[in-house]
Amino acid sequence: MNKKPKIILDTDPGGDDIFALLWLQSLVRQNLAEIVAITTAQGNVEAEVTFACASQVMGLLGLESSIPLGKGVICQQLEIGDAAYIHGNDGMGGLSGTLPKSQHNFEIAPAADEVIIEQLSASPGQITIIAIAPLTNLAAAEEKCPGILKLAKEIIIMGGAFQVPGNVTANAEFNIGFNPEAAEIVFQSRTDIVVLPLDITNKLIFTPEMAVELTKEQQNHSISKFVMALTEFMTKTSLVYRQTEGKNGFLIHDAATIAYLFYPETLLLQRGNVEIELNGKLTKGQTFLDHRHFPKSQSNSWVALEVDNYNLLACFIEDLKHL
Ligand code: BDR
Ligand code: CA
Repeated sequence: MNKKPKIILDTDPGGDDIFALLWLQSLVRQNLAEIVAITTAQGNVEAEVTFACASQVMGLLGLESSIPLGKGVICQQLEIGDAAYIHGNDGMGGLSGTLPKSQHNFEIAPAADEVIIEQLSASPGQITIIAIAPLTNLAAAEEKCPGILKLAKEIIIMGGAFQVPGNVTANAEFNIGFNPEAAEIVFQSRTDIVVLPLDITNKLIFTPEMAVELTKEQQNHSISKFVMALTEFMTKTSLVYRQTEGKNGFLIHDAATIAYLFYPETLLLQRGNVEIELNGKLTKGQTFLDHRHFPKSQSNSWVALEVDNYNLLACFIEDLKHL
């Protein structure tokens, strides 16, 4: 029996999104995973830009053009601005000119929520959604087609901040704070959401030395050059915006979702109920986890609160050598 996970990646590239995609593709290369669709989201940069960025990176990685690429549903009421100041205006550190041209057309591309509905309906219980962006697309699919998210095998989300401060406001993490109402819909859609929050992703610092290690065998390969240049850019902006406590490197937040699926021994999760603050003047977009020791019948999530960051990064580096 073929047990390779079939995956929809919902993403808003984004430097760390790109590293999550690189990791996923390295697992595809090892015949350990299958990407059935990529859906792009408005978030780190505008929907049109995340779409173009994903398309170009797919070209760089030699991903089959038959893999559907969805364009992001537009969020009607924006809570916060984008994160181009960290990721670059093109979502990839100004490197878009160095990659193959976008192979998909935004105008005629299917909407991300439609892609999600189509894929889940065609393969109920078989597809894992890895969501590493604001949850607008997933929520739109659920609103259009109530119950559709229950048809996913599993939903794995990078988002939230429970016992640490937020990264876009004092209390909110970007993916939840960008569209808290969408997050609320997704967290109410099922009882087994897997959450990789800032509590653990703040420890995933990828350094230029690690980039040298993973590219040293094939320094002239186009992927190696891209990895080195993107690492350099992300490291610079991360230092300016003090994302890494002054350490030389950047946070590969979104890659934590791939670790959960393929290296779960690097994470410790707690069962509990996650709720999103929708009203607070200072707390809108904050995530709360009730993990008191009561019977867990009301719980909706598994939340990672501890990480073996050294081993997670070691797995990441070794896998990326397969690209
Ligand atoms: C999340 O926000 C985005 O800027 C990153 O890509 C990641 O998905 C981290 O808070
Ligand atoms: Ca992201």
